[in-house]
Amino acid sequence: MQHKELGVAVVGCGRMGRLRASLAAVHPAVSFLGVSDADRSRARGLAEKAGAQFHSDDNLELISRPEVNAVIVSTGEQEHTLPVIQAIELGKSVLVEKPIAMSLEDADRMLGAAARNGRELRVGYSRRFKRAYLLAKEQIVLGRLGQIVGANLRAYNSRAQSLQILERTPDATPVTFGMTYYVDLICWFLQGNPAVEVIARAQKGVFQAAGYKADDVTSAILTFADGAVVNLGVDYALPEKYPTFGANSRVEILGTEGVVLIDDDSKDQIVYTDRGIPHSYVPGHSLNAAFMSSTASGDWAQGDFWGPLADETRSWLDHLSTARPCSLTTAEEARKTLEITLAIEQAVRSKKPVSLPLTEVR
Ligand SMILES: NC(=O)c1ccc[n+]([C@@H]2O[C@H](COP(=O)([O-])OP(=O)(O)OC[C@H]3O[C@@H](n4cnc5c(N)ncnc54)[C@H](O)[C@@H]3O)[C@@H](O)[C@H]2O)c1
Repeated sequence: MQHKELGVAVVGCGRMGRLRASLAAVHPAVSFLGVSDADRSRARGLAEKAGAQFHSDDNLELISRPEVNAVIVSTGEQEHTLPVIQAIELGKSVLVEKPIAMSLEDADRMLGAAARNGRELRVGYSRRFKRAYLLAKEQIVLGRLGQIVGANLRAYNSRAQSLQILERTPDATPVTFGMTYYVDLICWFLQGNPAVEVIARAQKGVFQAAGYKADDVTSAILTFADGAVVNLGVDYALPEKYPTFGANSRVEILGTEGVVLIDDDSKDQIVYTDRGIPHSYVPGHSLNAAFMSSTASGDWAQGDFWGPLADETRSWLDHLSTARPCSLTTAEEARKTLEITLAIEQAVRSKKPVSLPLTEVR
């Protein structure tokens, strides 16, 4: 099969950047790997570990390298916009971590750059690549559910991981960094049927006490253009020692002729050890009992990384190399998901229904 050689740049060498670089390093189409981070020692450390040929603390120096034709932006949520636009303007294909941006203005700048330069921008909503959700999408595409009339999606996580994210991005909330995956999923399942209205309520608690604006619990009801009603819930403030490594969810999709019920709490896979298991995301945090496979991105086992982030990265590299279609979230879809999460927060504040698309973001 014909394939194009890829030169991959990974911008941001934190938790996700380290995984993306390790995965790109072993992809058969990748002949060049470079990494950059605002913290030069992180870039150097990752370059040594992943076998990258180049590292820098200057993103533009890396992105401009002639070998680079694909750029992965794995910086924190507030730092996506500049490297994404720089890469697109230099004619490179880009994968950016979710959420696409923290504001619609920044998302629109990225979409504008992609359209002007005819480049493809994809967004890392890796939950799509967890097998259960891929199979759910397939049942829907095959028409087995009939018309989808409603859905229930809820996600739980411990405060340990949420506080790490809030420390990096104090303006983020469990809606913009957690519920966003489930907004992406339901919009993917209901493709072509846009959300038109949001109502939502929330309760404050431990995050407010820690000095953040984020709510502990948020419940939202979305109505879609054809009348489908979708219930979304998030509680990312469960106790610190709650036995999760990141993602516990239930997703139920209700159709006129069928239903998909996904129990993704991982309660059926438990490990206990007196020795403690280090949390892959939260330094210094460990659990004695844990739901295995509850790490959102996936897990290392037998020297390889397995799970949604691995499949997503491979699928994107395969797509660039062989032109096979892929299921990664498009920039337009990610912008819509951002708009819905911002509308949910607006509906929490106003305690009134919010119509979509948004005319004003307050
Ligand atoms: N798909 C998933 O499963 C998943 C899981 C966790 C996080 N994420 C997303 O991935 C992104 C990164 O999260 P993380 O947990 O890896 O964060 P992190 O804090 O571990 O790493 C971010 C890195 O970016 C670097 N950085 C910050 N600003 C920079 C800049 N302007 N230029 C270059 N480097 C810069 C930091 O020094 C740090 O090394 C976020 O958008 C997050 O929401 C996705």
